[in-house]
Amino acid sequence: MTTTTTRPTTDHPVLDAKALWQKDKDHFIHPFTDFSVFHQEGCDLITDSEGIHVQDAKGNRFIDGIAGLWCVNVGHGRAEIGQAMADQATRMAYFSTFNNLSNAPAAELAAKLAELAPAHLNHVFYSCGGSAANDATIRLVHYYFNRLGKPEKKRILSRNNAYHGTTYLAASLTGIESNNWDFDTLDHLVTHLSEANCYRRPEGMSEAEYCDHLVKEFEETIAEIGADNIAAFIAEPIMGAGGVLVAPEGYHQRMQAVCRANDILFIADEVVTGFGRLGHFFASEAVFDTRPDIINCAKGLSSGYAPLGATLISDELYEVLGTPQRKGGVLSTGFTYSGHPVSCAAALKNIEIIERERICENVREVGPYLEERLKTLSHHATVGDVRGSHFMMCLENVADKATKALLPVEARVGDRVAFEAQKRGLIIRPVGHLNIVSPPLVWSRDTVDRVVAILDEALGAATESLKEDGYL
Ligand SMILES: Cc1ncc(COP(=O)(O)O)c(C=O)c1O
Repeated sequence: MTTTTTRPTTDHPVLDAKALWQKDKDHFIHPFTDFSVFHQEGCDLITDSEGIHVQDAKGNRFIDGIAGLWCVNVGHGRAEIGQAMADQATRMAYFSTFNNLSNAPAAELAAKLAELAPAHLNHVFYSCGGSAANDATIRLVHYYFNRLGKPEKKRILSRNNAYHGTTYLAASLTGIESNNWDFDTLDHLVTHLSEANCYRRPEGMSEAEYCDHLVKEFEETIAEIGADNIAAFIAEPIMGAGGVLVAPEGYHQRMQAVCRANDILFIADEVVTGFGRLGHFFASEAVFDTRPDIINCAKGLSSGYAPLGATLISDELYEVLGTPQRKGGVLSTGFTYSGHPVSCAAALKNIEIIERERICENVREVGPYLEERLKTLSHHATVGDVRGSHFMMCLENVADKATKALLPVEARVGDRVAFEAQKRGLIIRPVGHLNIVSPPLVWSRDTVDRVVAILDEALGAATESLKEDGYL
């Protein structure tokens, strides 16, 4: 619980931390929050940030190991992004983008995204975040096939453990079972395939055989449902919240080939992998050699400085979407805040910083070092797998490395490790038995060394506490 008064790091006003803590607890319904804990303890207020650090209301400073929530790619406290937003807000904070109206930052950003994206993706549909981008995408895909006279092509193939957000439709695409406990989903629209989990692939199967197995499942599912009933396949290039799962070599290319052969659109959800996390603005083509029909992005697009999502659409799809369907008809979908000028101004400045500071290059240079150094943590009894790529990493904690058996849920191993890390000045994300490391993309090798030293101690302390409580 927070009771002290925050000391400002700059000339920001002093906050009454205790009063804020109470207001938050009384009135803010937090997303993804365990209310049995929240009702007792409320929330920690994060009040300040600078570079790779954030600070709580008690004045404790932490290395941010999760980039806010996979999003603050250029790091915190970028005054020039704040200035670009303020300039836009005072010049023209908002006006409609419906009915043949536009604004300067939205136009500039659309052109910039077309320049950065694979060559065939030249058209941008704006939304306010990742869930909304995915939701809007599926509506556009259905509309596209309706317009082509194929209204029966409706089903979307997704994967178990995928995370695509929490609007009704995005939550239905999401395949993390616990995310939808006691919620309804649109099951008639979505079918989930197996995720590509190399660590937990069937015993005795090589990675190449595993890839064959997954592609076969895909083909069989299509045969069962009928390609005529399937609109699209959606996948994260590397599955994020579902456990940072890197698919076997060649998987995405082969899934795309099956899509092409069956007139199924291939959608890449690059909400996490976009904007540098894997060392490129977009990973689909640069890393995985695929050419999606649609790429969705959000998060790193504006580095979290303002809410923004974008759906990047191919020329081929745009030919249909961009043609009036009937006299007087309009593309009647979009949001009041589609192409919000202040968000687009933030994104433009963010992209300028990524390019000017060669942040993708930093990820390509420091990312493999982060992978290598995190792998040294495998000596801990509980660390079953260290996986991921570049600035998108995960530790999977287990009870037994040989059998890969998990600790009981109530051991809360992910929480323990995260707690011990936080005590030592590092925030990482617990997701069940996993710990995710997805930092701002400006970490240096020295920061990596510091982080790995903290994690080494934290894992040792968590192991001791698990032993004391009889879990090991
Ligand atoms: C891959 C992916 N898609 C979509 C989303 C949803 O984005 P948002 O929370 O901005 O709605 C997320 C969020 O973590 C994500 O990781």
